[in-house]
Amino acid sequence: MLGSDAATHSAKQRLLVTGVGGLLGLPLAMLAAQRFSEVVGTTHSTSIDIPGVRTTPIDLCSPGAIERIIDRHRPDCVINCAAITDLERCEREPAEAYAVNRDAAQALAVVAAARDIRLIHISTDAVFDGSAGPYRETDLPSPVNIYGDSKWEAEQVTLAADPRALVVRTCLFGWSAQGNRSLAEFFVSRLEAGDEVLGYTDAFFSPLATTHLAQLLLRLLGDREQSGLLHLASRDAMSKYQFGRNIARQFGWDAGLVLARERSAAAESTLRGAQLALATDRARDALGEELPSVSEGIGELHRLHVNGHREHLRALEPDPSKKESAHACTDR
Ligand SMILES: NC(=O)c1ccc[n+]([C@@H]2O[C@H](COP(=O)([O-])OP(=O)(O)OC[C@H]3O[C@@H](n4cnc5c(N)ncnc54)[C@H](OP(=O)(O)O)[C@@H]3O)[C@@H](O)[C@H]2O)c1
Repeated sequence: MLGSDAATHSAKQRLLVTGVGGLLGLPLAMLAAQRFSEVVGTTHSTSIDIPGVRTTPIDLCSPGAIERIIDRHRPDCVINCAAITDLERCEREPAEAYAVNRDAAQALAVVAAARDIRLIHISTDAVFDGSAGPYRETDLPSPVNIYGDSKWEAEQVTLAADPRALVVRTCLFGWSAQGNRSLAEFFVSRLEAGDEVLGYTDAFFSPLATTHLAQLLLRLLGDREQSGLLHLASRDAMSKYQFGRNIARQFGWDAGLVLARERSAAAESTLRGAQLALATDRARDALGEELPSVSEGIGELHRLHVNGHREHLRALEPDPSKKESAHACTDR
């Protein structure tokens, strides 16, 4: 499963990953460090030390910052994982949301196109309203919140500036350095404490484990034939209730602690669509294999836990005080 990208990267290639303090950027940078001669990762408010990765703090919105970092490190490829992903924060601070999610993405695409840098930009299932998933790349987005709208605008300005870029819409879960950035961590923290937790029976998604997604992104990075929009998600969809119960079973906890609740009755329901699954036919054809299932992703989450990966990530963030201030459970 998930093939190999070994043949697609030259040993001399340099990769820049933005947002390496985040849920996706961290495992992506860690994997890339084993495959690229040089990996540079940008951080912002999070301070993090990643073996084999040169981290550099940067506000991607500060004038000229993107050109400076590209000039300094001269990457051959860039994967843009930086974003403001906290839905409520995007509603409260729309100017910041559009500045990071759209304007910085556009600035990166302009520089990438001008210098023939391979660019992958990460987008989200939240560009859709969730009324009619699973969604294909050809379906018209209709975001229901500022986050989704800023990400949809980012897709458009990225591809307008750099038509050879690959824009990957995804949904993800995994372990983060902060311990609170994914829906899986939300379920795990409650279930391992023996607490009951609500799971929505009418909210469907198709998330990939971050480590699976990282492998797929590195493969696609080496295939410049792949451009435009691509959905990278699990090959099947699951309700968030079922997701919580499957995590409980996989980790050997009481699945009865996950209580069924209708999302439509919850206060946050207006901010998030209900049927957000992404169709992965195009990705399957591009990669020449099926994408992992949600259950395989949960198996990966457990495998990483058993291998001590969770503690390893948490030890990478040298300033524990930041863990408390980090936003919890973001785009989910
Ligand atoms: N999480 C999900 O479930 C999900 C689902 C679908 C799509 N996505 C997409 O996947 C990508 C990665 O998401 P994620 O979950 O890894 O997000 P995340 O954990 O919130 O990380 C985002 C990163 O962006 C950085 N950042 C924010 N503002 C910045 C700025 N002004 N300058 C430089 N860096 C800045 C943050 O840095 P600091 O932490 O250092 O401040 C953080 O490391 C995003 O494009 C997101 O839209 C995520």
